[in-house]
Amino acid sequence: MMNFKQIKARYDDCLKQKYALGAFNFSTSDAAKAILLGARNVQAPFLLTTSPGEMNHLSPEIARGIADGLDKMRKGVILHLDHGKTYEDIVTAVKAGYDSLHCDGSALPHDENIKLTKKAANLAHKRNLWIEGEIGHIGGSSTLHKDETTEKIEMVMTDPDEAKDFVEKTGVNSLAVNIGNVHGIWKGGKHIDLQRLADIHAKVKVPLVLHGGSDITAEQIAKAITLGIAKINVNTELRIAYTSAVRTALKDENEFVPTKYLPAAQQAVQAVVEEKLKMFGAAGKF
Ligand code: 13P
Repeated sequence: MMNFKQIKARYDDCLKQKYALGAFNFSTSDAAKAILLGARNVQAPFLLTTSPGEMNHLSPEIARGIADGLDKMRKGVILHLDHGKTYEDIVTAVKAGYDSLHCDGSALPHDENIKLTKKAANLAHKRNLWIEGEIGHIGGSSTLHKDETTEKIEMVMTDPDEAKDFVEKTGVNSLAVNIGNVHGIWKGGKHIDLQRLADIHAKVKVPLVLHGGSDITAEQIAKAITLGIAKINVNTELRIAYTSAVRTALKDENEFVPTKYLPAAQQAVQAVVEEKLKMFGAAGKF
């Protein structure tokens, strides 16, 4: 569990020492444990995140309970709501005791995004919670897309002036941007616009967030961190690691024991988490 001041200190340290927090999604307790073990192994800070779908699959209270359990293994676990799209999502997470929130009104018209995010930010600040906003629509989904390329996705690139206005009007603590970082893994790869990120960074003073962290090269990540990125979200690569390991283990039709076939999934997730945290420069920063 982390309060606002402690979370702010983490982001400040990222900006000062030029590294990014890894924000990793989970849908099951063993995947969450794998994330903690990976972060602990490389001594890195991180955020444990659920989308509303993942939160409701577990139940918000169980998600909180898992984070509390992990916090006993190593202090400083931050439980974060990823892409809360409605005020109800935000309230659900607040009631369950999430430490940090992402209000994503990016699919709404600009004024409505400001209205929703401002309302969510007011609630967050009353409760001493961190809140991230989003402007420009990232699009895609966290899975492996075999046949399509990113050109077909509905996404809106972040405009630097709009981003500045959005942060000032809503009072968010950090900002998710779209610079081509679509969610998921795509046949055509991702086309990251670092010049756009530099232009946003010149105008926006809060820490910036890079979603769609799967399948972005180490080189692009390193450059993005020099341009104000302080948190990078990863989901697809974890889902692929977990599910592929389970699939392989279940090829044996006589295997029915979860404690036999799930450890491979846990190890696969842990390996991805360690690799990403090293790539984000976060290893050794805890
Ligand atoms: P990927 O699924 O591309 O890793 O993105 C995850 C994400 O941004 C979660 O919000």
